[in-house]
Amino acid sequence: MKLLLKIGLVLLGFNSIAQTALPIPDTLSGPNYVLNMHKDSVQFFSGNISHTYAFNQYKYLGPTLIFNKGTNVNITVNNQIGDTTTVHWHGIHLPSMMDGGPHTTILPNAIWTPSFTVMDNAATYWYHPHFMGKTAKQVIKGAAGLIIVRDPIEAALTLPRKYGVDDFPLIIQCQQYDSLNQSMPLGMQDSTILVNGARASHGFTVNANFPAQIVRMRLLNASGERTFNFGFTANKQFKIIASDGGLLDNPVTTSRIRLSPGERAEILIDLNGMNGQILHLMGYASELAMGIQGGPTMPMPVGSPPMDSPLNGIDFNIMQITVTPQTTNPVTTIPSSLTTNAPYLSSQANITRTIRFTADSLMVMDGPFYFNGNSFDMMRIDYEIPLGSTEIWKLVNETMVAHPFHIHDVQFFLIDRSGNIPPTEELGRKDVVLVPPFDSVMFITKFEDFADTITPFMYHCHILMHEDDGMMGQFVVKPLSVGVNELKNNNNSFSIYPNPTNSIVNIDAKEMTSVSIFNTLGEMVYTQNKISTNSLQINTSQWSKGLYTVQVNSNNQSIAKKIIVN
Ligand code: C2O
Ligand code: CU
Ligand code: CU
Repeated sequence: MKLLLKIGLVLLGFNSIAQTALPIPDTLSGPNYVLNMHKDSVQFFSGNISHTYAFNQYKYLGPTLIFNKGTNVNITVNNQIGDTTTVHWHGIHLPSMMDGGPHTTILPNAIWTPSFTVMDNAATYWYHPHFMGKTAKQVIKGAAGLIIVRDPIEAALTLPRKYGVDDFPLIIQCQQYDSLNQSMPLGMQDSTILVNGARASHGFTVNANFPAQIVRMRLLNASGERTFNFGFTANKQFKIIASDGGLLDNPVTTSRIRLSPGERAEILIDLNGMNGQILHLMGYASELAMGIQGGPTMPMPVGSPPMDSPLNGIDFNIMQITVTPQTTNPVTTIPSSLTTNAPYLSSQANITRTIRFTADSLMVMDGPFYFNGNSFDMMRIDYEIPLGSTEIWKLVNETMVAHPFHIHDVQFFLIDRSGNIPPTEELGRKDVVLVPPFDSVMFITKFEDFADTITPFMYHCHILMHEDDGMMGQFVVKPLSVGVNELKNNNNSFSIYPNPTNSIVNIDAKEMTSVSIFNTLGEMVYTQNKISTNSLQINTSQWSKGLYTVQVNSNNQSIAKKIIVN
């Protein structure tokens, strides 16, 4: 009797000590957002604290930004991490100067103030640093957060959208920590799972209380390298309602969803009548193909780095879900149709570009990897794309590992996966697509709205160590010739004089809402938001001599010109 009681207590202790409630990041709403990116630390393990990066009041990750389609947002990013960084709005369609790519650096203690009009469809996006060579380090340390875009089409549907009540953000990460408890950007033996920054492995569990009704989960795989094959215990079915950049036409019923790094999905689970029950969000890695990071570990060539995480190729627990009583006004049914996507037509494509994923040899498993044999070069523009161009990009993976391909500026539609029509859940708007080893994918997209011959947009592998290692390219979107451009939109031009200048520069534009000026390092030297006049005079007398890029933004256009300061 005594013995049984003791065992019971020990088990109870073990179970209760390690369980954390799912943290829900606070939301920030517009039009003005302030993000203070800072150094912090978390006691993830016993012994040494882990050094982290975070935004605002958090010690790890950051608040969820709520954007409304059609509105302007003004963001102030304050860099207090003691290192140069950038902040990129992943999946958002905006001028390249506002995109936060590797050219738009924010120096330590500096402030960056992008502003833009939200043109995207309702979906789940995210933000994270993108500084060349340090993206993995900075993201893995915790500098990331979610963006939720809302729009009228989504708002008109009967869907769960009470944040933290029936609509849950889930930022899922898996990383490796060294013997001093510090995150390892290159760690391929990643086995520490974090859900919204809470530990969910090695004896820790995260519990979420979900009400007994239809519940929405916004899944983001924010890992450096691991692909997750999500599902629920007992093979409970669920509905996928949105991919990276918007709603699907109709909910897709399934029991698995595979998300590679950078990908998002919104899913609905039906918990009606399940009050009091417990289920688990799982990673079914045993079902992943070899060559996908997280799947069964391949037999490795001699000299390869250790990449045998104990989670590879097995099924594991990510989060416990305890079903609680229904809320008031619960959503209890799922709409049968959601929206009507209008994919671009292949017959309208102006060009097909082939991007081969390559490595120095077929045996390479840890990189470096390249696009068409080229490593990333900040000074090389890989493609000049005319504004308005409809393009098919054919991604051909000639390596033995899978790569999640991501492109900035646009959302795309898959038109082919391995020679076949892609699965229905991949037919919506996307900005990341996983290309398995020795396989191919084709997508179609259109480069609209934002031309800028100076600041490029990126495309890259979203395995962060591959990206940092050079598996990245860049393109500029070129304005059309002036005549055609003026026909299309007569608000898109500005004049700047005198040029060269010594002390004063004047900008005249038919319409301008903000102006930013950058030096050749991509550092912002001047910015002015909320402009309500048509002309601006700027004093350049304190600036160092050289070439500068002047970016003039109006509500839906962003045009750049160069000036010389003598
Ligand atoms: Cu999520 Cu170019 O990045
Ligand atoms: Cu991106
Ligand atoms: Cu890759």
